[in-house]
This record gives sequence, structure tokens and C-alpha cells, in this order.
Amino acid sequence: MDKDIEQILLTEEQIQNRIRELGEVLTAEYADKNPVIVGVLKGVVVFYADMVRRIKVPCQMDFMWLSSYSGANSTGKMLVRQDVTADIAGRHVLILEDIFDTGNSLEFTVNHLKEKNPASIKICTLLDKPERRRPGVTLQADYVGFTIPNAFVVGYGLDYNEKYRNLPYVGILKPEVYTK
Ligand code: IMP
Ligand code: MG
Repeated sequence: MDKDIEQILLTEEQIQNRIRELGEVLTAEYADKNPVIVGVLKGVVVFYADMVRRIKVPCQMDFMWLSSYSGANSTGKMLVRQDVTADIAGRHVLILEDIFDTGNSLEFTVNHLKEKNPASIKICTLLDKPERRRPGVTLQADYVGFTIPNAFVVGYGLDYNEKYRNLPYVGILKPEVYTK
């Protein structure tokens, strides 16, 4: 797998250091709030597992799994493949995401969860790629691990054709891997 990586963008150590910092902020923010921490599958699993262990408050863990119809002219239409199981009405919700890219999936997720009347919703994304944002998306992440340039990245949960999720770092794929 490593041979397919052009450049390591974020090392394990950089990621873990940033998660520790975010953990202190989120621990303060969610003290006494008993948040429901919602992960958006599948890309978030690695970040989720590390992040929740740094948020040192009582909390509930939950997950959503989305399907996107990405045709040639993708309108970013989404479907809930697996909804949260917790009753989040009146609860403080923290969404964890792997990457904030076009914004389609986060926008959909926030709108979907808002309909369940939570007390609050905040977003924490490991990666933010602002250059890729779909025009018209006004949503912003409340907490960002790293702002990254417009390159396709894999590892630390992120995949290309379901591969590379288990790399411990975030790297940029070699262009020839796309064209194989
Ligand atoms: P969105 O475009 O913001 O809706 O992001 C949708 C999903 O696309 C993300 O949650 C990721 O799973 C995936 N994605 C976006 N950019 C990348 C990337 O650079 N590498 C791997 N997956 C990505
Ligand atoms: Mg994702």
C-alpha cells in the first residue's frame, strides 16, 4: 500500500497531536452536556475511535451511514442507509466526519439530524478541503483538524475504491494509481 503513496501529508504523530488538542477543547465544550457523538460511516471510523477517547466526558456513541448517488452530473443526492439509533431530541449532538469536501454529505447530515430536534449540533471534521466546496454551501465546521489542499487523499479511514483505509497516516495517492 505504501508504495502507492506519493507524499505523506499528515504523519501519525501530527494526527495524534492534533486529536489531543481537539480533545481538550471538546472535553471543555461538552462537560456536563452528555453529548451524542455521531460518526458518519465509513470514512470516519479510524478518526472516531481515536477522537472519542480524547473527549473525556460521559457521552453516547452513534453512527449514520449515507449512500450518495454520484452520477456524471451529481447533484449530491443522498439517502440514509443507516440512521442514528439514539433519540437525539433535546440532546447535544457532535458530528464527527473524516473530510469536509464538497459539503454535500455534511449538509445532508446536519439537515437530517436537525429534523430530530436536538438541543445543538456541532461539526468536528478531521480534514477540511475548502477549495472543493460546492458553491452555495454555507455550512461551516466548528472544529477542524487540518485544512488541506485540493488533492485526493487516502489513509486514516479514507479510501480509494475501498482500499487504503487502514494506513495510519494521511497521504496523497500517486496519479498512476487512478489510471490503473
Ligand atoms: P463531500 O463531498 O463533502 O460530501 O464528501 C463526501 C465523502 O467523500 C467524504 O465523507 C469522504 O468519504 C469522501 N471524500 C472526499 N474527499 C476525499 C478524498 O480526498 N479522499 C477520500 N475520500 C474523500
Ligand atoms: Mg465520510
